[in-house]
Amino acid sequence: MPQWNLEINGKTENVEAVGSTALLWVLREDLQLTGAKYGCGEGSCGACTVLVDGKAERSCLLPVSALKGKKIQTIEGLSSGEQLHPVQQAFLDEEAFQCGFCTPGMILSTVALLSKSARPPTELVRQALNGHVCRCGAYPRILAAVELAARGGKR
Ligand code: FES
Ligand code: FES
Repeated sequence: MPQWNLEINGKTENVEAVGSTALLWVLREDLQLTGAKYGCGEGSCGACTVLVDGKAERSCLLPVSALKGKKIQTIEGLSSGEQLHPVQQAFLDEEAFQCGFCTPGMILSTVALLSKSARPPTELVRQALNGHVCRCGAYPRILAAVELAARGGKR
């Protein structure tokens, strides 16, 4: 079986997998990083979103063979020890989740968005989160959390 060195959350991880294996399965099954969720498996729900070189990507669609030299970040690598990332804190402060299944993907896409645009207009936020499905319908609170994070956590 081929071996791959993947840079995940600042650490190099060596995994064995067929090259076409989706990153999502390597994260969840081999590395026990279960924050990225399996929803649709076809790029339509956003539950599996991770950051690749700072860009939000659907890990269910990314073959492990395409990730050489890329920096992968999952929700597990976002906080600094006990200190939540400001976007995580904003989601918590706005109670922007119910079951939490969509939350890691929503948060990582928000992190990617705010790294490009510190104070994005609502339309841009909607575009960035378009394709992220929240089956609990927490969308209004998710939008409020993104706006709170964009204001630096200030109400
Ligand atoms: S599981 Fe990847 S987009 Fe739905
Ligand atoms: S909080 Fe349940 S899917 Fe979004």
